[in-house]
Amino acid sequence: MKIGLLDSGIGGLTILKALIEKHPNHEYIFYGDTLHVPYGSKKISEITNYANNIIKFLEKKGAEVIIIACGTLSSNIEKLQSKVPLIDIISPIAGKLDKYQNVSVLATEISIKINAFQKYVKNELNLIPCPLLVPLIESNDFSHLDSVLPEYLKHAQNSDAILLGCTHYPLIKEHIKKYFKGDIICLDNYIVEKIANLKPSSFKLTLYFSKLDDNITSNVKRILDREDVAIERSELND
Ligand code: DGL
Repeated sequence: MKIGLLDSGIGGLTILKALIEKHPNHEYIFYGDTLHVPYGSKKISEITNYANNIIKFLEKKGAEVIIIACGTLSSNIEKLQSKVPLIDIISPIAGKLDKYQNVSVLATEISIKINAFQKYVKNELNLIPCPLLVPLIESNDFSHLDSVLPEYLKHAQNSDAILLGCTHYPLIKEHIKKYFKGDIICLDNYIVEKIANLKPSSFKLTLYFSKLDDNITSNVKRILDREDVAIERSELND
């Protein structure tokens, strides 16, 4: 099946990588809006406008289903317009977190404000907005993480699990675990089970970014752990 994925940047690649590993028999078309990242601190009307243009682009490329590989947009999925089915990355957590007593959610400012997570979880969630993380992860500059992360993670001290509510955050999972000296469970990527029933086809992978430079290209290859990736720049009209 032709599966479209979209995110504000490289974060959605964490979803794409997991999907390719588990379900290699699909054609994947990814769009990262690196020109407009970060989405999480912008106006909702602005980012849903970007996302709707990306959805049209992916539909033109033949996507039969589109995965919203972004927590911030998944929190606003009802505002997105599409001719093909959209799959969000938040609803797959339904019932999966109830075995943990104290779950903290790390996510963008918009996602935390909307808190689309709580309706899928029985216990009350501890919500922590982390506005500085996406720009640091996109710039590949992890040197400031040691000063920025503790400011967020100190609010998660009593947690027995942390939900990574933004698809960029699995890229710094090791830094998060290090802060807790390894004594924490990081939860992410429940979407993988959700596409198990899609009709298989032959594997193909194409990636588009609204801004492309050497940093993005090397990030893509590092995250996907493969060299054979076709990456194109495609800027969409706002
Ligand atoms: N990967 C997006 C998310 O999951 C990042 C949003 C942003 O660009 O701030 O929320």
